[in-house]
Amino acid sequence: MATLLRRTDTFTADEVDVALELIDDSINRSQSSGYECVVACEPLGDGDDEAVMGYLSYGRTPMTEGTYDLYWVAVDPTYRGKGVGKALCRAFEETVRQRDGHLIRVETSSQEAYGGTVQFYTDAGYIEGGRLPGFYKPGDDLIILYRTI
Ligand SMILES: CC(C)(COP(=O)(O)OP(=O)(O)OC[C@H]1O[C@@H](n2cnc3c(N)ncnc32)[C@H](O)[C@@H]1OP(=O)(O)O)[C@@H](O)C(=O)NCCC(=O)NCCS
Repeated sequence: MATLLRRTDTFTADEVDVALELIDDSINRSQSSGYECVVACEPLGDGDDEAVMGYLSYGRTPMTEGTYDLYWVAVDPTYRGKGVGKALCRAFEETVRQRDGHLIRVETSSQEAYGGTVQFYTDAGYIEGGRLPGFYKPGDDLIILYRTI
């Protein structure tokens, strides 16, 4: 997953570090951290090796009932545009449904590099619920999207 993140040119080095911390917490401290991941893999040849096509990290939103945060979704450039991102969202949403969750929140940036991201979430059924102008920096808004389950 580290290779996948480093191959994603929209993420800064700091963002890659944060994403890796979340993955580490999902694998090693899932109970205490509350972070979890859905990973999409493809078998490589006849052995046990698998290629990571993409992953999505999420967690329950503290101090809410049945609300989840979708923190991060990334698909390796080789596998983009083939429905992997959408399949990761659907798998995550099914988990939320099974746990009696009812709402998913996503936060993203309006800056140009994320333009396709907002479209991706919109295509996946997420609705813009709010915007904080200049939240990340002047001209770069925080966009809050949500989806009810
Ligand atoms: C955004 C991302 C996860 C999409 O993954 P993907 O597997 O390529 O997406 P899918 O093939 O499942 O596409 C699903 C839908 O989103 C749309 N979509 C995906 N990427 C898009 C883009 N860059 N611009 C516009 N629309 C896009 C597709 O047109 C598709 O629509 P459809 O269902 O009507 O056909 C992937 O491009 C990525 O990893 N980007 C870099 C990391 C990133 O920005 N992550 C989000 C912030 S954490």
